[in-house]
Amino acid sequence: MKSFMIQGAKILATGSAIPSSSTTNHDISTIVQTSDEWIFTRTGIKERRLLKGVDQSIIDLAVSASKKALDKIAMHPSQLDLVILATSSPDDLFGSASKIQSKIGASNAVAFDLTAACSGFVLSLVTASQFLYTGAYRNILVVGADTLSKWIDWSDRSTCILFGDAAAAVILQSCSIVDNSVLTFQLNSDGNYANHLSIAYETDIIPHPKLNLHQGYFKYISMNGKEVYKFAVFQVPLSILKCLNSLNMSIEEVDWLLLHQANERILNAIAEKLSISSKKIISNLCKYGNTSAASIPLALDEAIKQNKILSNDIIVIAGFGAGLTWGTVVLRW
Ligand code: UT7
Repeated sequence: MKSFMIQGAKILATGSAIPSSSTTNHDISTIVQTSDEWIFTRTGIKERRLLKGVDQSIIDLAVSASKKALDKIAMHPSQLDLVILATSSPDDLFGSASKIQSKIGASNAVAFDLTAACSGFVLSLVTASQFLYTGAYRNILVVGADTLSKWIDWSDRSTCILFGDAAAAVILQSCSIVDNSVLTFQLNSDGNYANHLSIAYETDIIPHPKLNLHQGYFKYISMNGKEVYKFAVFQVPLSILKCLNSLNMSIEEVDWLLLHQANERILNAIAEKLSISSKKIISNLCKYGNTSAASIPLALDEAIKQNKILSNDIIVIAGFGAGLTWGTVVLRW
């Protein structure tokens, strides 16, 4: 990777946006057979934000998060060269990134979507840094946004308790190699287990009468929670260790563990496997649930606002989810 680097990459600013109304575990217990106690003890989630009404969409959340990040550093949107939207719930299957590009006024940027479910932000961060390392681009906006509430079967208690809607953005800029803060990465996919977590397309059995053509529709989220849980706790520590080994970095040197916010028990199990103190885990899923591609940048933005992360801190970021896809990025803040 490093042999292609002619310059480094660093994160300049973050921003996030969440729907205004909160849905508690108690609210969910009025629609499916569950309880606040079950949800909290099994997942660590207390409440989540869901996009309600018809007047707001994933685009609005993504635009709001992006504007907050731009405002923090007083960057004019025309300075952006690239906008990457990590999402699995766009408003348009052809992609929603260009709508964000136009709404924020990033008139000089090319924009595309990157679909990798809950690993989408990690893959987008790595993708963005490649454009910066090679000198192709100078300023890149990466937005992780998902509104999975629109793909949830609200009668399925095994999934409807987990997810929330949100968007969060980071702005990356090229810098000299000595100031590079995206230190290394490690990415993986295993499509053999794709059916453990999917929003599958179902083809109609009856074809078009004249063309013999089968069309269909997307189904709700289906998940084998136990298998996804086991996969995350097994694979994520291995990916993190590969990254740390490649940097000759010890576990003790890690300041923050920022994992995809799927389940508090998964976060703790991964930290325990790595012998990382639970004090170093960044976690906010009790308030937002699993916000898919938004979860990591949302937690990052919040940790920055709380002044948790200090200059030069080592942050190990790892995403995992549908695909199955998982991966790690190590940052020096
Ligand atoms: O973004 C990445 C993707 N997703 C994940 O990372 C999810 C990973 N998996 C998980 O977080 C957990 O597997 C869940 C939270 C989804 C489920 O927790 P679990 O401890 O694995 O529970 P389970 O599926 O083994 O179910 C245990 C019991 C079952 O009852 P029986 O068969 O033992 O009688 C379920 O029917 O709990 C029942 N159950 C519930 N009970 C109350 C399942 N969902 C609920 C519920 N409320 N919402």
